[in-house]
Amino acid sequence: MTGLPDVPAAALEDWLRERYFRAEHDISSSGVHNHTLGDLRALDPGLRDGELDSLVFRDGPSLGAERLRAAVAARVRPGPGQVVMTTHGSSEALFLAFAALLRPGDEVVVPDPSYHSLSVLAASAGAVLRRWPLRPENGFVPDLADLRAVLTRRTRLVVVNFPHNPTGACVDPAGRAELLELVGASGATLLWDGAFTDLVYDHPPLPDPSRDIGRSLSFGTLSKAYGLPGLRVGWCVLPAALAPELVRVRDYLTLSLSPLTELLAAVAVEHADELIGPRLAEARRNRDLLLEWAAASGGAVECPVPRGGVTAFPRFPGVGNTRPLCERLLERHGVLVVPGDCFGRPDRMRIGFSCPEGELRQGLGAISAELAELPGALVRGGAG
Ligand SMILES: Cc1ncc(COP(=O)(O)O)c(C=O)c1O
Repeated sequence: MTGLPDVPAAALEDWLRERYFRAEHDISSSGVHNHTLGDLRALDPGLRDGELDSLVFRDGPSLGAERLRAAVAARVRPGPGQVVMTTHGSSEALFLAFAALLRPGDEVVVPDPSYHSLSVLAASAGAVLRRWPLRPENGFVPDLADLRAVLTRRTRLVVVNFPHNPTGACVDPAGRAELLELVGASGATLLWDGAFTDLVYDHPPLPDPSRDIGRSLSFGTLSKAYGLPGLRVGWCVLPAALAPELVRVRDYLTLSLSPLTELLAAVAVEHADELIGPRLAEARRNRDLLLEWAAASGGAVECPVPRGGVTAFPRFPGVGNTRPLCERLLERHGVLVVPGDCFGRPDRMRIGFSCPEGELRQGLGAISAELAELPGALVRGGAG
């Protein structure tokens, strides 16, 4: 990284930093609601029968503990020549990848809008950003013609994130195939942020890109679909030849993960379907609830349908900047959402819908009540 002293503050983290701990009703999150240590212990006899007590706090291997790497590989099924590296959240993996792969002046394609790490870290490494717009007028549906238009001979990396934070946009299996073909033909390396891979509603989870394209790195995490953000475990699936490059950077940063978190993470991945299944079913029901609320708002809430993930990114006609509304929701109702300016779209709001249903109803009701008080209001309040 060349420009880290100049790295700008992450607006999303600044917004959440203290409010997250004050909120009574959290409908802001991009992950499903959280699991406990007890939930993990209930899944695995080893964790109940002394495995925790006999764990030795040795340093871990640079690429991660074998059991966890094997569990991730069994689930992700990487293509030939690819290895799994486990990391402190996918945040660390993204940092390592950008730091190891980019040189000043390289062109990097990033989705717009995007989660801050995807664009800011690339820019901090000295890259020239080329933005692939996800267009609100098209309900954020990704258009590959827009991607084609920003690819050049100098494109070094193409960063994608489907399902997408914050819009919930996604490519379908045919769109994935077309996208991989396009990136493959361009000569660029694909960075596939699959944080929300397991959270899809219209088709099975998209396969890891490495099964179809050699030059790819993909990123996964326990923070979103697994409901384990505080465990701080993620991973990167990458060509074996690149692994030493990421380790070279890691040796100055985190060295390795804790054997304790890797043990818990291995249990989580080995029991992925048991952890994810019920939360996904709940998210599906809540997504319906959210869309019904928007449809019943009389035009006060315009909400593109999230095709994946657990966030929606609606706008409220007549509200040019949602930040004051978001402040009032917290101060008057204890409801936490995210103002769209954290993603460069002040007229929108990120709503997380994978909370218990009652929380979501409370939160949406509060938004309706606040919208009803605005001058020229379209809703009369109380919905949700
Ligand atoms: C798209 C995306 N990628 C990566 C991350 C990083 O998550 P973590 O470091 O918890 O794995 C996030 C977190 O919100 C995200 O939304």
